[in-house]
Amino acid sequence: MSVLLLNIFLSAVALNLAAMAAGEDGFVFSGFKGANITVDGVATVTRNGLVDLTTGQETLKGHAFYPAPLRFHESSNGTAVKSFSVSFVFAIYPNYRPSQGMAFFIAKSTDFSSALPTQWFGVFNSATQGNASNHVFAVELDTVNNRDLHDIDANHVGINVNSVVSNKSTTAGFYHDDTGSFNALNLTSGERLQLWVDYEREPTRINVTMSPLGMAKPARPLVSAIYDLSTVITEDAYLGFGSSAGRDGSRHYLLGWSFSSSGGPAPAIDIRNLPRLPRLGPKPQSKVLEIVLPLATATSVLAVGVTIFLLVRRHRRYAELREDWEVEFGPHRFPYKDLYHATQGFRNKNLLGVGGFGRVYKGVLPKSKLEIAVKRVSHDSKQGMKEFIAEVVSIGRLQQRNLVHLLGYCRRKGQLFLVYDYMPNGSLDKYLYHRRQDDDNKLQPALNWAQRFKIIRGVASGLLYLHEEWEQVVIHRDVKASNVLLDAEMNARLGDFGLARLYDHGIDPQSTHVVGTIGYLAPELACTGKVTPLTDVFAFGIFILEVVCGQRPIKQDAREKHPMLVDRVLEHCHNGSLLNMVDIELHGEYDVNEACLALKLGLLCSHPFMDARPTMRQVTQYLDGDPPTPELSSPVDTNFEMLAAMQNEGFDPYIMSYPSSTASHGATSIVSGGR
Ligand SMILES: Nc1ncnc2c1ncn2[C@@H]1O[C@H](COP(=O)(O)OP(=O)(O)OP(=O)(O)O)[C@@H](O)[C@H]1O
Ligand SMILES: *[C@@H]1O[C@H](CO)[C@@H](O)[C@H](O)[C@H]1NC(C)=O
Ligand SMILES: *[C@@H]1O[C@H](CO)[C@@H](O)[C@H](O)[C@H]1NC(C)=O
Ligand SMILES: *[C@@H]1O[C@H](CO)[C@@H](O)[C@H](O)[C@H]1NC(C)=O
Ligand SMILES: *[C@@H]1O[C@H](CO)[C@@H](O)[C@H](O)[C@H]1NC(C)=O
Ligand SMILES: *[C@@H]1O[C@H](CO)[C@@H](O)[C@H](O)[C@H]1NC(C)=O
Ligand SMILES: *[C@@H]1O[C@H](CO)[C@@H](O)[C@H](O)[C@H]1NC(C)=O
Ligand SMILES: [Mg+2]
Repeated sequence: MSVLLLNIFLSAVALNLAAMAAGEDGFVFSGFKGANITVDGVATVTRNGLVDLTTGQETLKGHAFYPAPLRFHESSNGTAVKSFSVSFVFAIYPNYRPSQGMAFFIAKSTDFSSALPTQWFGVFNSATQGNASNHVFAVELDTVNNRDLHDIDANHVGINVNSVVSNKSTTAGFYHDDTGSFNALNLTSGERLQLWVDYEREPTRINVTMSPLGMAKPARPLVSAIYDLSTVITEDAYLGFGSSAGRDGSRHYLLGWSFSSSGGPAPAIDIRNLPRLPRLGPKPQSKVLEIVLPLATATSVLAVGVTIFLLVRRHRRYAELREDWEVEFGPHRFPYKDLYHATQGFRNKNLLGVGGFGRVYKGVLPKSKLEIAVKRVSHDSKQGMKEFIAEVVSIGRLQQRNLVHLLGYCRRKGQLFLVYDYMPNGSLDKYLYHRRQDDDNKLQPALNWAQRFKIIRGVASGLLYLHEEWEQVVIHRDVKASNVLLDAEMNARLGDFGLARLYDHGIDPQSTHVVGTIGYLAPELACTGKVTPLTDVFAFGIFILEVVCGQRPIKQDAREKHPMLVDRVLEHCHNGSLLNMVDIELHGEYDVNEACLALKLGLLCSHPFMDARPTMRQVTQYLDGDPPTPELSSPVDTNFEMLAAMQNEGFDPYIMSYPSSTASHGATSIVSGGR
């Protein structure tokens, strides 16, 4: 007894160092740091002195033993088990699901290799269940209600003899000393609980008492059974704990343990020096996680949503229309994304102009840094698209000094994009008329005669190339000042060739719909609708007059006797005052011969009779002075004399009726009839 007291004293002095009472009669551990304790299975002794029986691992068993066997039987007559007392402090941490619980036992050996985990506490097994040869006495702390094993609830304390089925069990708790009322305790609350097992030899009684840590041992035991352990506990037996987490990974901690078989109570455990338990909960940062996790989840869900949205939008934004037959045109096809970025998303800032077919945007190709003009044409019909694209691509192969190079195309739903070389000096119409109209474009300088004549010759050679010099005949169909663009050296370049076809396609010849621009339409179009190179020649004639006179083909002024420019030129031609028609902006500074040639050639080209018009080859020859002007004058004169004669007889070759808004573009319905 004195040894025991000394040990109690020592353990109190030795602070949180585990103390062990030497000798056969008992021991006390106030924490297990440095203690001589045997563990097996998944059980460990933590650095700060806790016995962690299950280490949070699933369905694996763990045990902790007092390393040496203790003598339980009376030395004198060797049959009866001595009175003994055990006390221990434990804590069970739940982990999402209730733990399986743990058991204190007195067993014949430390070999539990055949014992089962989970509800068997790593102490019993189904085969030897209830067999007296087990020689196991246990107190179970059961946290699962297993009906097969006749459990009373999921939070009970039981006395077990050779069996996992308790001989007697009660819901965990204690009886108040004062009131005698029952107070339930939650085994898996993670709170530190203390439990006492007292065995009395005379009369043979087992008392199991429990309480929250720090409370004095209640007088009334929780479970009490009259039972003689003499046949159960072998002469020398091992003391220990067994546990097994279920599939939940719960933790079973042992903080302190004491034993006495000398008749007295179990030595007191120094509760002030018990090791600290880890923080309860899944992880120390659980509080943070509680806030962060939902936030992170929400954020990632949002991020995924936004990503999908962006991808879908990107997909939509850059979606293109692509058909099988386009494979062969692949190299001429621009990705829509490139055009979108080149034109900065088709911003208004990049808008170069609006025409009859659509809008034209300036752009810079992202990779090559090439300056381009992108014409966006609204086009819904799929009909004829293949032929049109084929033509666009073949036109793209056209490369001539006086043509705007068509680089390629792109297609989207309802939209077609044509990509041209960018012409830094814009279209010719801006140079010709800006002074006489309140254009919001910036003031372009008036063109001098040399520039004008060069432009006329340039357009002529461009048209000649289209009509005769390329492998197939290309009819421009929309020759006019706004389709003549000026490059950096003020060379004229004809643009928009072939585009009219897109709108013409598939329309039967009977239809009166003709594509082109009013003022430039040859009269025979009204009758036959047939487009020939000579209809281009007609428009070119009007164009020459436009450039020389600096006037629009049709005047909007209602008081004008001759709203048509060609009529006025013709009148002056008859009056011998042809040069009066030359643009006053030139202030008389021009080559008289060239101007005369140009005006006459303009009249000749825009002759109402198709057959009277020269071909583009002849036109270029006239412009080059070969055949020289004298020869030129005769056919012109003859023709126009005839024409004048016809007019005198009341025949008006210009039988087109124009809508009042003469500046309109695009497909026009030509109605035949008198003016
Ligand atoms: N390649 C280009 N480089 C620079 N500017 C261009 C280019 N193509 C067109 N433009 C500008 O865009 C404007 C609009 O061109 P668009 O061809 O759409 O109309 P239009 O020529 O006036 O009429 P139409 O539709 O009958 O051709 C032109 O007037 C011109 O100023
Ligand atoms: C632990 O106890 C056992 C049995 O009493 C003994 O054999 C062993 O030497 C002890 N070990 C230590 C480190 O004290
Ligand atoms: C054991 O011995 C004691 C003392 O001799 C005696 O009182 C007791 O009855 C014996 N017990 C048994 C089970 O023989
Ligand atoms: C109990 O176990 C022993 C030894 O393992 C065995 O011989 C005996 O048959 C078992 N008894 C029962 C009832 O299973
Ligand atoms: C209690 O233990 C005895 C002896 O081992 C056994 O025969 C009896 O069935 C047990 N009672 C219960 C309820 O398990
Ligand atoms: C015991 O406490 C744990 C943790 O607070 C809780 O999850 C469990 O439901 C409680 N059990 C009972 C029977 O009150
Ligand atoms: C067991 O409990 C009973 C009261 O239920 C008590 O009379 C008895 O002394 C207790 N025995 C021990 C060894 O504590
Ligand atoms: Mg154009």
